[in-house]
Amino acid sequence: MRTKVAIIGAGPAGLMLGRLLDLNGIDNVILERKSADYVLGRIRAGVLEQGSVDLMERAQVSRRLHAEGLVHHGTDLSFDGDRVRIDFTDLVGRHVMVYGQTEVTRDLMDARTGQTIYEADDVALHDLDGKSWVSWTKDGVSHRLDCDYIAGCDGYHGVSRASVPAAALATFERVYPFGWLGILVDRPPVAHELIYAHHERGFALCSQRSPTRSRYYVQVPTDEKVEAWSDDRFWDELRRRLNAETAEALQTGPSIEKSIAPLRSFVAEPLRFGSLFLAGDAAHIVPPTGAKGLNLAMSDVAMLADALIEFYDERSNAGLDFYSAKALQRIWKAERFSWWMTSLMHTFPENGAFGRRIQRAEFDYLASSRVAQQSLAENYTGLPG
Ligand code: FAD
Ligand code: DHB
Repeated sequence: MRTKVAIIGAGPAGLMLGRLLDLNGIDNVILERKSADYVLGRIRAGVLEQGSVDLMERAQVSRRLHAEGLVHHGTDLSFDGDRVRIDFTDLVGRHVMVYGQTEVTRDLMDARTGQTIYEADDVALHDLDGKSWVSWTKDGVSHRLDCDYIAGCDGYHGVSRASVPAAALATFERVYPFGWLGILVDRPPVAHELIYAHHERGFALCSQRSPTRSRYYVQVPTDEKVEAWSDDRFWDELRRRLNAETAEALQTGPSIEKSIAPLRSFVAEPLRFGSLFLAGDAAHIVPPTGAKGLNLAMSDVAMLADALIEFYDERSNAGLDFYSAKALQRIWKAERFSWWMTSLMHTFPENGAFGRRIQRAEFDYLASSRVAQQSLAENYTGLPG
């Protein structure tokens, strides 16, 4: 088999890249380790920046997003029960859209015209500095795909970044001593907008997927086991971390999903090794505070698609040569913002009483300064590409 671009991974990054290439007549094949149903069953991000919405429009997959997505003009931050509303529209003239990653993935899967091979085992990348090819097995049979380029869109634990010689990659990492325990429930959200809450017992987030489906998170220690958290224990802990009025309004119910995600900041540089380009979680991880992970994956593949289109249309390498430096500019700004918002909103017992006072001062500054709020709003709604 031969194709122009072999895409590893059918998450949002791989599927969006495949879609943009399909629309431009550039032959591509996606290889995905899991089944389509498995990919659709993973509950992850929920907030789209305007740039990601624009990209869904460009990819001609925005009909359902505009019909069902919820426009959010602001968000609430609370610190020990004191609240400040960050009014995105007033502060920076932009907003975000609540639309789940599973829905983005489903829309892209439904629209796909190119070939996707699901349940591809043992994917391996070969000859990245020459005539590249990819191998895999399916149902015990070995396959080979020759290609011009490989897009590594296979997430943090994928094979793509691991195929680059260690000496050719610099990595930067911060692992946080906690994770997010998340719950999905078929009950209306507690508020119209999201609430990011700092409490001395730990961070909590009230998010949502639709007018009838809510997503809530609480900060838990890294070694916490999801089995230790009954629904009742989760709701009790969440209520404790919210202000009295919000806790009172919370509608609880049986969870339809419950999982723990570790928090990490990570960047690998550069994003290119020979014919391989890394994009999305394969190249970088942000802690989820600030909702940047999915949006960064989208902006990476928008840049990579443009570079590949330029190459096939004009035989110019300029875009491909510049992809890594250009994407990393935006990635590091999102890393900074996610790290900052994580640092402000979580409890870090090791930082002691001084650290907590500094967090409080940061929150008070934010609450009293339009300029500080503008900075948050500018970053949250998405910096330009
Ligand atoms: P992924 O979505 O990880 O897709 C990669 C794909 O590659 C997967 O389908 C995987 O099965 C496949 N793959 C992996 N290895 C191979 C292989 N060897 N061969 C073939 N295929 C392979 N972001 C937020 O903003 N908010 C959140 O609440 C949030 N929660 C998250 C919870 C978890 C548990 C995780 C892991 C991430 C979360 N994120 C969240 C981040 C966000 O979901 C990601 O940034 C986003 O999924 C990145 O998309 P991607 O396509 O780059 O990677
Ligand atoms: C969600 C996740 C986030 O990380 C975030 O900042 C906002 C919302 C969510 O899953 O709904």
